[in-house]
Amino acid sequence: MKKVVTTSLLLGATLFASDGYEVYRKNCMSCHVEIMEKDKALKNLKDMKAPPMVEVSNRLKENIIIKDDEEDLHRHLFILFVKDYISNPKIDNSMCHVGALERFGVMPSLEGKINSEEKQAVAEWLYDRYANVKF
Ligand code: HEC
Repeated sequence: MKKVVTTSLLLGATLFASDGYEVYRKNCMSCHVEIMEKDKALKNLKDMKAPPMVEVSNRLKENIIIKDDEEDLHRHLFILFVKDYISNPKIDNSMCHVGALERFGVMPSLEGKINSEEKQAVAEWLYDRYANVKF
């Protein structure tokens, strides 16, 4: 029985899986640019609505710290945080620089605009996209 459940869950996940990059393009790109070098970002601050995604991803990875050196667990916690933040962004939850929060304000909630599969997909994308890309 257990096996059957697992298989159908996996199937479901594949059938309905959203493409994280597409979710990003539709729901996040208007504020977060995908990639930008730090120097350029600092120079263009006034034209930006939010930190670049490459910065968001790297900063969260640095600040979500686990005791075991387990990439899977780290990725899992990162994804949980991002999914929650999309629906419940608030100053108390933010791990952003104080300066960035002052400059951009807190992100508006996207609750209702993006479903849970899309949240999962975009959170995975945010982790994996910048696997070897530092800010
Ligand atoms: C209307 C503009 C806007 C949109 C759209 C938007 N964001 Fe944000 N986001 C912000 C701003 C501004 C910040 C920086 C302040 C903050 O942390 O709330 C931010 C910060 C974040 C953070 C960092 C939180 C932290 O604590 O470091 C994450 C993660 C994030 N956004 C993910 C997303 C994802 C994923 C999407 C699309 C599904 C998205 N955002 C869409 C404006 C936006």
